[in-house]
Amino acid sequence: MVLESLVRIVKVQLPAYLKRLPLPESVSGFLRLTVSEWLRLLPFLGVLALLGYLAVRPFLPKKNQQKDSLINLKIQKENPKVVNEINIEDLCLTKAYCRCWRSKTFPVCDGSHNKHNELTGDNVGPLILKKKEV
Ligand code: FES
Repeated sequence: MVLESLVRIVKVQLPAYLKRLPLPESVSGFLRLTVSEWLRLLPFLGVLALLGYLAVRPFLPKKNQQKDSLINLKIQKENPKVVNEINIEDLCLTKAYCRCWRSKTFPVCDGSHNKHNELTGDNVGPLILKKKEV
């Protein structure tokens, strides 16, 4: 039943529709079309434009896609915002703080940025805080 309907559309209705279209014989004939003729042509021209776009689309330049658009892939994902506080008195204990969001000891750098840089070609590294010696 469905196939019969499809065959009828392709073999009978589509040719009849195309035959009724007010397609001019020359390019200048488009200038002489009336508004109602243009309106009858509009769906046909829309389909042609869509098919043309779909045919050309694979060859169009693509936007640069980021390898991963999320910065934080796994740290405290249950929180809407990850905020860390570090007491200034503790700065002498730990000096390197993670900025790549890949550290298993976040916010402290564990060197995971090296693997991330190797895999992605990125160049991130830790924030190193130094206490000024007086
Ligand atoms: Fe993230 Fe080192 S592990 S900056």
